[in-house]
Amino acid sequence: MIILRSHAEIEKIRNSCRIVAGILQKLSRRVHPGVTTWDLNAFSEELAKKEDAKPAFRGYHGYPFALCTSVNEEVVHGMPSKHRRLKEGDIVSLDFGVVVDNYYGDSAITVPVGHISDEATRLCTVTEESLYRGISQAVAGNRLSDISHAIQEFVEERGFSVVREFVGHGIGQHLHESPQIPNYGPPGKGVRLKPGMVLAIEPMINSGAPEVEILEDQWTAVTLDRKLSAHFEHTIVVTENGPEILTRSETALQ
Ligand code: MF3
Ligand code: CO
Repeated sequence: MIILRSHAEIEKIRNSCRIVAGILQKLSRRVHPGVTTWDLNAFSEELAKKEDAKPAFRGYHGYPFALCTSVNEEVVHGMPSKHRRLKEGDIVSLDFGVVVDNYYGDSAITVPVGHISDEATRLCTVTEESLYRGISQAVAGNRLSDISHAIQEFVEERGFSVVREFVGHGIGQHLHESPQIPNYGPPGKGVRLKPGMVLAIEPMINSGAPEVEILEDQWTAVTLDRKLSAHFEHTIVVTENGPEILTRSETALQ
């Protein structure tokens, strides 16, 4: 069952999403060679506190941090560490969510550390663009897998691969709600999209093979071939007039 949110509920989700977008924007400006992922997590905690927002990930299935920081071959759920100092040429995915007044927002961006290779730039650009291709299919009357298919087609045409093990999700009164949203699949399958559905769409795209493995910390997912991976995520709402992105940084308070 996918919940259709009322106007009042969407306003609460919108508020959480605005806070998430603002915090990610501020975090991205802190990304420089020499910064540790631990510092970025601490800053995310500080910014959330200032907004009276509760970080959504800390405590979720025992995850111990507010922020996920996934560097280079790390795909998702990378854990902040005092020992992980970002260096010129790295890419780092910052994945963050909050809950305010019982409603959640969730978003991720992949940020370059200083000057990065052309291949890393292309991976980040294609991953972000694939998210927008997916979002453009989040139209009332379409089916869920139209989103999935648009992402996969765009990515694979450009020689990159889609991670299968992690998916997007419905979001609202919980971080993860129905439906699951794979980033691959044939078009025209799954439920019909309706106004009021709130979805977190989050392609994780690899520069090499799609396979991933989980490290011994039981959280960090890395590419099996240790090539680069990128990740972008937005929370969106399906409206009568098409998709509306709730975690756009342009809508965030400065
Ligand atoms: N955006 C990620 C997701 O929706 C972040 C979850 S991290 C966790 O899966 F720690 F909360 F699991
Ligand atoms: Co998510």
